[in-house]
Amino acid sequence: MKQFVLYLFIVFFVLSCKKKTVEVKVYSESDRWGFESPSHFPSPDYQFVNNEQTRLRFELGRYLFYDTLLSSDQTVSCSSCHAQAHAFADHNVKFSKGVGGVLGHRNAPALSNLAWYPNFMWDGGVNHLEVQPLAPLTNPLEMNETMSNVVSKLNASSFYKEKFKSAYGIDEITDQKFLQALAQFTSMLISSNTKYDQYLTGTTTFTDKETRGLQLFRDNCAHCHKEPLLTDFSFRNSGVETTIVDIGRELITQDPNDKGKFKVPSLRNIDLTYPYMHDGRFFTLTQVVDFYSDGIQQSATVDPTLGDGFHFTSQEKLDLIAFLKTLTDYYLIGNPDFSEPKR
Ligand code: HEC
Ligand code: HEC
Repeated sequence: MKQFVLYLFIVFFVLSCKKKTVEVKVYSESDRWGFESPSHFPSPDYQFVNNEQTRLRFELGRYLFYDTLLSSDQTVSCSSCHAQAHAFADHNVKFSKGVGGVLGHRNAPALSNLAWYPNFMWDGGVNHLEVQPLAPLTNPLEMNETMSNVVSKLNASSFYKEKFKSAYGIDEITDQKFLQALAQFTSMLISSNTKYDQYLTGTTTFTDKETRGLQLFRDNCAHCHKEPLLTDFSFRNSGVETTIVDIGRELITQDPNDKGKFKVPSLRNIDLTYPYMHDGRFFTLTQVVDFYSDGIQQSATVDPTLGDGFHFTSQEKLDLIAFLKTLTDYYLIGNPDFSEPKR
């Protein structure tokens, strides 16, 4: 590490000797930038291996996340489909528009606590945070680009040349550093300060309705939507349809026992991330709760713990929804560090 800092010092020195180069701030120990695992969370999966966190790297990742340069015709950014005001889900649409306005086949999930995810996408087709962006980048229905083009565009940009130089001390931007910079940003989208978290850590109290809702949730939902991340990351068929249109996990495993199974989604910020399910079939939480109550569709792989639905009373439905609304994280959606950066 000392050697690295020394190296950067030399780079800095050399740069400051060349009169015409703008002075770039180079990574130093004092730029350390803090990922902290909340005390009531399990330990995270993403470990920042060879990608030590710094504020400059995070800021670089943030520029990339909001930049349409990543797509083939420079019209689509990650944030086009993952909007901060919606807890990084899309803006109220079932399916998102990619390059050329074409629609994808699955609902864009909300993004938070990604550093805890052992797998990504509805079918778990990606298993590392640093690799995940390859999927939207190269998907013809999303950014329709190639990695080598993205890297050439970045290398042709004096803005990014300077940013990568100061954040990683490199002259030539590579695939790896590009992906690592994005992970510096996405790993920091932590949601741990909802009313529900404050209740868990004893800094607030729930209303009677919310308390009853939490109990109903623990009795019926939490074995899949496991606390406190509100997912156990397993793949399940929750019975949304009898005739399976999207085979889900089976696409990855080729195992017919996985037909129609999708990753259990986290329910953090659920009030903001409608429409719901992999295909965006429900627009309101009332529809979702009605579905779990009396709408489970039977098929060969449907999860046995769902039975033929939970048959909630109308009061129980209201209680459950009151609880689900405690999962909104105003710190995540309002945090200026996560908003579109100025250039
Ligand atoms: C055109 C819309 C679109 C764009 C652009 C887009 N995404 Fe997504 N994103 C989606 C959809 C849809 C999914 C779910 C895909 C699936 O499961 O097959 C997804 C899934 C994800 C996931 C996995 C979340 C989970 O719950 O497993 C992450 C992380 C993510 N996107 C980050 C990004 C990043 C970073 C970028 C930019 C490089 C990006 N996305 C660009 C629509 C988009
Ligand atoms: C057997 C496991 C299981 C149980 C039990 C379960 N869920 Fe789910 N839940 C899932 C899966 C899997 C999905 C995604 C299904 C899909 O996309 O087709 C999901 C999706 C959801 C969604 C939509 C999330 C989004 O981002 O689109 C909500 C809301 C939800 N569940 C709430 C609940 C509530 C409330 C309960 C209890 C009444 C419950 N779930 C019980 C597995 C489960």
